Amino acid sequence: MTWTSVLISIFFILVGRLIFKIVIPPLNFPRNIPTIPFYVIFLPSIMNIDQRKLYDMYLREPLEKYGAAKLFFGSRWNIIVTRPELMAHVFKEEDIFAKSGNQKKIPYAVIAAYTGDNVISAHGQVWRTYRSVVTHGLQHFDEAPFYNNAKLFCDGIEKMSNMDGEKPQDIFMGPLIQRLCLDNISQVALGFDFGALTQDDNQLHKHLTNIKKQIFHPFFLTFPFLDLLPIPSRRKAFRDVESFRKQLVSTVQEQLVKNYKFEQTSFASSDLIRAYNNEIIDYKQLTDNIVIILVAGHENPQVLLTTSLYLLGKYNETWQRKLRAEVDAVKGSKELSELPLLNSFIFEAIRLLPPLNTIINRKTTKACRLGPEIVIPEGTYVGYNNFGTSHDPKYWGSDADEFIPERWGDDIQTIFKNWRHAKNAYMMTAFHGGRRACLGEKLALTEMRITIAEVLKNFEWTLAPDWDEKMTPAGPLSPSNLKLHFERRLEPRKSRSL
Ligand code: HEM
Repeated sequence: MTWTSVLISIFFILVGRLIFKIVIPPLNFPRNIPTIPFYVIFLPSIMNIDQRKLYDMYLREPLEKYGAAKLFFGSRWNIIVTRPELMAHVFKEEDIFAKSGNQKKIPYAVIAAYTGDNVISAHGQVWRTYRSVVTHGLQHFDEAPFYNNAKLFCDGIEKMSNMDGEKPQDIFMGPLIQRLCLDNISQVALGFDFGALTQDDNQLHKHLTNIKKQIFHPFFLTFPFLDLLPIPSRRKAFRDVESFRKQLVSTVQEQLVKNYKFEQTSFASSDLIRAYNNEIIDYKQLTDNIVIILVAGHENPQVLLTTSLYLLGKYNETWQRKLRAEVDAVKGSKELSELPLLNSFIFEAIRLLPPLNTIINRKTTKACRLGPEIVIPEGTYVGYNNFGTSHDPKYWGSDADEFIPERWGDDIQTIFKNWRHAKNAYMMTAFHGGRRACLGEKLALTEMRITIAEVLKNFEWTLAPDWDEKMTPAGPLSPSNLKLHFERRLEPRKSRSL
């Protein structure tokens, strides 16, 4: 046998092993739950197929029958769970199904360098420290920026639609919604104005838009191990991410000191800086947590607002009219949180299209059982699929796939009681549950109510006739490239922005 044939044999053995690892789940994975074919996760990259369709074609049947399945995702085999009883088990056994975010799962990837070790991804004592620092600022916040920014947002809609010009236009909503959500979270939780709605040439905004393209590049998200290779564009992505992180933290620090009497501020960011000054956390931890507040704090509301405006555009003759009549009568946000139609609409939007669909960031710390029968080996990644849980007819009825806000109840007490019940029973996991429940739920819901009410007061809208009605192919779940047609209800607005 020559050296060449030895090398060729080794090459084929290695390729064979790789293919075997991708095509077939590890042999110690549970046999009593189904396997979703490995290629399913690659289909959105090669076919025109959205997440809802993909779920219907490949995931619905096995998940509704078994409540859990084996899924290839993020370069490895995982177990995803949808059945509420099993979800409860995963969420309650926090030390067995331990959080293990990107910083542990793919520490070499650009996305891990971006968000680092933070309150969402950390586990144990480190997480408890982070959580105790940021909770107050994320639970008690000033709502005034939401009102002001909602007005700027409406100015933006008016301007982009060119309502007074010769050629009014239908508009793509993505960029404007992103600007709104960035300004909201930076002003409400980080103590500075990102300036995305008011300055076209904003450097930080440009920087963020640039690194997002690099971080969420579909190819490198699917094959994160490629970030280990010396690919020049990825080395640049690492540098850009690091410089954005530095710029963000120094902006937060400078603005807090410049604009406020720092010791009197109670933003989540000021509590983080105090923890850093008192050596409770180090500089990297400070940066990681400021970045995650910006990231979770703008991206998730951005997705939910897109979905809400889409549903109101789609059901313009019914829900848009009903909600407008309801919000026309009120002024303050306290009242908004008491409106039955507005709140049941938002809850149903979250149920129908949960913004974060598939989340796989837990790893078993020992061999264990999931429910009474599913035996999982140590070191297995376990995640959840929110769409599956909130569309399962066993828990939501045979009309689970339909948009029916009435299902939450008629009066506000019943609507909130049903919302709390759905979360406590793990039938609604869009904001997670248990001890690791989302810290931004209250903030996001307040932001939605105020923005939706302001847009309803100013405009009537429909889906743009040439918009192709489909959802994102992967990642956060929302209408893809949403395009809307707006008509003004009131007198022309005195534009202040954009
Ligand atoms: C529609 C909006 C939002 C949705 C659907 C949402 C959803 C979620 C989900 C599913 C988790 C758990 C993630 C996991 O299992 O790893 C989570 C955690 C978290 N979210 Fe949100 N989120 C939203 C808005 C926000 C906002 C505005 C903030 C503000 C910064 C925020 C801050 C957090 C934090 C700090 C955690 C970690 C809680 C912990 O582990 O202690 N979220 N969120």
